[in-house]
Amino acid sequence: MHPQTKKYAHPTIVIVIAILTLANTFTINSQNVKPYNSFRPGEVWLDTDSTHINAHGGGILYNKGVYYWFGEFKTTGAKGNTAQIGVSCYSSTDLYNWKNEGIVLKVSDENGSEIEKGCVIERPKVIYNKKTKKYVMWFHLELKGKGYKAAKTALAVSNHVVGPYHFVKSVRPNQKQWPLNYPDTLQTKKYPKDLEWWSPAWYTAIDEGLLLKLDFEKGQMSRDMTLFVDDDGKAYHIHAAEENLTLQISELTNDYQNFTGKYIRLFPAGHNEAPAIFKRNGIYYLMASGCTGWAPNAARMFKAKSIWGPWKKLGNPCIGPEADLTFKSQSTYILPVNGKKDSFIYMGDRWQPKNPIDGRYIWLPIQFKNDQPIIKWEDEWMLSTTHSK
Ligand code: GAL
Repeated sequence: MHPQTKKYAHPTIVIVIAILTLANTFTINSQNVKPYNSFRPGEVWLDTDSTHINAHGGGILYNKGVYYWFGEFKTTGAKGNTAQIGVSCYSSTDLYNWKNEGIVLKVSDENGSEIEKGCVIERPKVIYNKKTKKYVMWFHLELKGKGYKAAKTALAVSNHVVGPYHFVKSVRPNQKQWPLNYPDTLQTKKYPKDLEWWSPAWYTAIDEGLLLKLDFEKGQMSRDMTLFVDDDGKAYHIHAAEENLTLQISELTNDYQNFTGKYIRLFPAGHNEAPAIFKRNGIYYLMASGCTGWAPNAARMFKAKSIWGPWKKLGNPCIGPEADLTFKSQSTYILPVNGKKDSFIYMGDRWQPKNPIDGRYIWLPIQFKNDQPIIKWEDEWMLSTTHSK
């Protein structure tokens, strides 16, 4: 062999090797992004760019054949639970494979802006208003550096499902309005100032509206929240009020951008948060968690024939190991699968408060036994096998 051919490969060989190497790399990459065809609750869930999905406390909007998943974009480390970036959005047609649509509501760099970087933006939910053709997002907002004191709900609107969403306002809902299910006789009742929390007298006072009345002038608190659009197009905002002791269900105006002032209290002093709601065969089902911050606890389900109640307690819908911890998750949304009767997916968050970006998603099918919703753990499951078509 000529010494030169030993030292330097012929250009054609170099090109062939390069092509083969590229082809190999491509195969490896395409294996990495091999489409999912099942749900694996609690595992890292990659988007179509092979990055763990970052949409916590999320909710889903089904729009023109596509599912859009909106959620909190978390970051690493101690600051990761405050809003450093904004609200993210992912799209999917099969619910298994999600494409990153980017940040649809950005935090502001402006000092003193209500959505200033470092504020708290939680549980964003988006609904579509057919009359105004606007996409309407509400989310839980806490002001920068003020902990969870503000307890507000905030509005952002867009002409396009994937944004950009423009921040409109934040509110304390139902200012100077009494709930529908609140007796007039209690409106002026007074309570001792020094009631001991969790004492029987305190429970009675909360039940009778002690905190409701405290917030009457400035508007009710609104922390964990969700939205629900009913069959008739009316929308509701469901939120943890009264220091997270009482859920409230409030009606939104026809454009979904204001509160009408019509609302009810749901199980006062019940200590329920993380509301998620769905409707099946004309019955409303509302799921919630207890209040233990990022730590999981036992879920509870309620049902009613009218959104305005009366609501009935159904207890914990979860069964099997770790049912008392909601399988180490907290509810955020219940998704009706489009076109599949009786097909609902429980969506929960397995929070990682020390490294929030690593939070995991627990999606499980909701089954029904004598019309009672049941949630069981599955390591892996598919829409086709678990649901009736
Ligand atoms: C949870 C709530 C979360 C977040 C957290 C903060 O109870 O569901 O959305 O607010 O508390 O500790």
